[in-house]
Amino acid sequence: MKKLVIGSDHAGFALKEKIKATLIEKGYELSDIGTYSTESCAYPAIAHELCDVITGGKAELGILICGTGVGMSMCANKHDGIRAACVSDTFSARLTRMHNDANVLCFGERVVGYGLACELVEAFITTEFEGGRHAARVDMINAIEKCDFEALK
Ligand code: RB5
Repeated sequence: MKKLVIGSDHAGFALKEKIKATLIEKGYELSDIGTYSTESCAYPAIAHELCDVITGGKAELGILICGTGVGMSMCANKHDGIRAACVSDTFSARLTRMHNDANVLCFGERVVGYGLACELVEAFITTEFEGGRHAARVDMINAIEKCDFEALK
């Protein structure tokens, strides 16, 4: 089973707590980097902390929840080695693992309900990267991170 890390801001806190409980019940090893209450906090700091856990090798996949999922995904994607996908449908949650090798799933508590969120998480964490032709494209994403635009030609 993959090691997971989860985080949210205040707007995603309630959903984070429910998803966390569900994943622990399923037997996943999961670290929670906060936030730990509904007190207002800044999503960029949470996204950064979660990305550090992944790039530091302490977890393989991450889940970030805010109001919409958008702010979290913007922040996460600024990190070298992070491929974050903000999704609200299970098809995209699965395909972003298969084709983009996404390592962070983002969604919004103000967008999706608990049932759909569970399905997004399940699809994301149980799907493997397909590699093959997609590997070359993920390499190009990595090249963009390094400002190696020659690699895109
Ligand atoms: C917080 O109000 C909200 O801006 C945040 O959770 C998120 O939706 C940002 O993208």
